[in-house]
Amino acid sequence: MFSSPYIYSLALFVSLSLIFLFLAPQILPIKHPLTISLADDLDDLSLFRNATIASSRAAASKISHLSFSNPKPKIAFLFLTNSDLVFAPLWESFFSGNEHLYNIYVHADPSVKLNNPHILFKDRFIPAKRTERASPTLISAARRLLANALLDDPLNLYFALLSQTCIPLHSFQYIYHSLFGDSSWKLFNAFSTQSKHQSFIEISSEDPNLPKRYIARGKNVMLPEVPYEDFRAGSQFFILAKRHALLVIKDKKLWRKFRLPCRNMNSCYPEEHYFPTLLSMEDPRGCSLYTLTRVNWTETVNGHPHTYRPPEVSPELIYSLRQSNSTYSYFFARKFSADCLNPLMDIAPDVILRD
Ligand SMILES: *[C@@H]1O[C@H](CO)[C@@H](O)[C@H](O)[C@H]1NC(C)=O
Ligand SMILES: *[C@@H]1O[C@H](CO)[C@@H](O)[C@H](O)[C@H]1NC(C)=O
Ligand SMILES: *[C@@H]1O[C@H](CO)[C@@H](O)[C@H](O)[C@H]1NC(C)=O
Repeated sequence: MFSSPYIYSLALFVSLSLIFLFLAPQILPIKHPLTISLADDLDDLSLFRNATIASSRAAASKISHLSFSNPKPKIAFLFLTNSDLVFAPLWESFFSGNEHLYNIYVHADPSVKLNNPHILFKDRFIPAKRTERASPTLISAARRLLANALLDDPLNLYFALLSQTCIPLHSFQYIYHSLFGDSSWKLFNAFSTQSKHQSFIEISSEDPNLPKRYIARGKNVMLPEVPYEDFRAGSQFFILAKRHALLVIKDKKLWRKFRLPCRNMNSCYPEEHYFPTLLSMEDPRGCSLYTLTRVNWTETVNGHPHTYRPPEVSPELIYSLRQSNSTYSYFFARKFSADCLNPLMDIAPDVILRD
């Protein structure tokens, strides 16, 4: 039999646990998801309006210097990060020799102090605000990147969203010519044919998590703007054509709903739904419905995909990550741990950057 001191301490333990369970939320600060203040929302709105006006001005002047200088279209690389851009040397090799064909923009969470960013990213940081998973802040950050790229250079015709854990799987020239075509005639016409440019974004209605994620903000909250039949899922990383980048920063209707905080934090991935849902409602035929960024979801940990580590890096890995079932080979892959940099640099010249 248990002696009474044991019973007393057990009772004490149980009652203390119960008190803690019921009172803790009032005593301890519980972590609330990051919400977006009205001031931040208005500031973004002003940025998006400026970018929209600048783009329509550029369109009205028909990029008048076009016929004189024969400029080539550019790809805007948008890096969304909350830590150091550790693969900078790899990206530097990737971009090398292709000046005038790309621009880089970085949105870095201001609450994180980055260590001395690589020269490639110097002066490429846009005014950023805090970001956090399971909150609409990742949507806002991606929209700010799009708006800054639209404002900065009217020659940006494609917008590729990437993170610090992404790597390229091909050379820059391969990706550039896959997007714009490879003849000088096609490149010259890229500006006049941009209404036909396709966006590469995954858009799916098959995801088994869709019902739970639709009601993450509460039942019927998404109505009437987003009926369940129109709700879509897709990967967070995409390549958008310019008209779709504009569509995204002009949107107010869907944003009103997607900016609301989730009540069910286990089903809260707003950035995986906002972009696919919006583009699927507005221009599904203009989208590939698949992404060109390879992610390995075979074993997910805490909502994160498989992270490749140095022993896994090999030429065979790169070749297998490129393989896709679509018209295009994958352009980028994630996620790679920071210490993969050296093994990746070793195979960059002969494998990654050779097509
Ligand atoms: C938008 O443009 C106006 C006028 O140039 C400027 O005052 C304002 O700061 C800009 N907004 C943002 C968020 O950049
Ligand atoms: C995907 O990740 C799993 C481990 O989670 C690994 O066994 C597999 O080889 C990876 N697939 C590819 C194509 O790299
Ligand atoms: C391509 O399709 C096959 C058959 O559906 C599937 O097993 C394979 O995983 C797909 N490959 C990629 C890279 O998605």
